[in-house]
Amino acid sequence: MRYRKLGRTGFQVSEIGYGAWGIGGGLWAGADDRQSVEALHHAIGLGLNFIDTALAYGNGHSEKLVGQVVRETRHKIYVATKVPPKNQLWPARQGIDISEVFPYDHILRTTERSLQNLGLETIDLQQLHVWNPEWIARDDWKRAFEELKRSGKVRAVGVSINDHQPDSALELIKNGLIDTVQVIYNIFDQSPEMNLFTLAMEKNIGVIARVPLDEGGLTGRIDQHTQFDPSEFRARYFKGDRKQQVAERVAAIQRDLGIQNGDMPELALRFCLSHPAVATVIPGMRSRQNVDFNLGVPGKGPLPEKVLTILKKHAWERNFYGA
Ligand SMILES: NC(=O)c1ccc[n+]([C@@H]2O[C@H](COP(=O)([O-])OP(=O)(O)OC[C@H]3O[C@@H](n4cnc5c(N)ncnc54)[C@H](OP(=O)(O)O)[C@@H]3O)[C@@H](O)[C@H]2O)c1
Repeated sequence: MRYRKLGRTGFQVSEIGYGAWGIGGGLWAGADDRQSVEALHHAIGLGLNFIDTALAYGNGHSEKLVGQVVRETRHKIYVATKVPPKNQLWPARQGIDISEVFPYDHILRTTERSLQNLGLETIDLQQLHVWNPEWIARDDWKRAFEELKRSGKVRAVGVSINDHQPDSALELIKNGLIDTVQVIYNIFDQSPEMNLFTLAMEKNIGVIARVPLDEGGLTGRIDQHTQFDPSEFRARYFKGDRKQQVAERVAAIQRDLGIQNGDMPELALRFCLSHPAVATVIPGMRSRQNVDFNLGVPGKGPLPEKVLTILKKHAWERNFYGA
């Protein structure tokens, strides 16, 4: 495993971190606790030391599994979790006041719940689970974060940026209000490269790259025949002819690079790690097999420039989380 500094937090985090949404169940069908715990332990054994979870993932279930594993290991693991929006609306909507989303008491109370679920005394990184730039001048959320840091319940604070809106965090970074950002960054959505990454590097803000595999779209395993459990959010994410669209885009990448379906997960993760602004990439993983594969990727190094140039053409602007 290789490690990078998570901006001004100073945390030396593994290049591959653990995306722990799927293990929580809830919007993801087919999670198996025994398998998830085994996969987490296996990842830690291979040098992974950063886990991203959230109170909302399976209503605390992901945090409970993560906490169990972190308490069982002797290694230092950096745990990141998130404050859910009080109004339960993902993503943040324009025009809704922050008092409905992140009031002071809500941030403190939900952090306490996360600490209980995790069974830990401190959260290494607490993140707001949505962000709306209209809230920048408001003070409640800043006071809550300051209080959590002061009391030692939280070591660093960040924001998980709304889907496909990387520029909505620029003012936060300019004003030095957060230590990290979590952003969608993958072969399809390369937009953080434009402004966010440059500014984050300049201001020494840690970048966590989420959804590196486009919820599975970039694994090469989704085509028009793929079936998702109707209860799973991906049944909506990949609704209508979207599976077909994704499969065609992936086939075009493969044609341009002369690679196969099975090469896609490595390509997708190496793509993210090729940018120096990125501290850690957090693929969602639930099986030992995916852990084994993904944790082998940092050893392959960044992608060659000519591959990155070809991949620029494959950026694809769309938002499957919306409508
Ligand atoms: N708003 C937010 O803050 C937000 C939103 C989304 C995600 N996140 C964070 O980002 C993390 C990553 O995003 P994600 O999990 O939604 O999507 P993702 O990482 O893009 O894709 C996860 C999917 O890829 C599969 N996969 C992983 N490694 C694979 C491999 N080597 N070969 C084939 N398939 C593989 C997983 O399978 P299995 O699950 O079966 O192993 C899962 O179906 C989340 O877990 C969460 O921590 C945050």
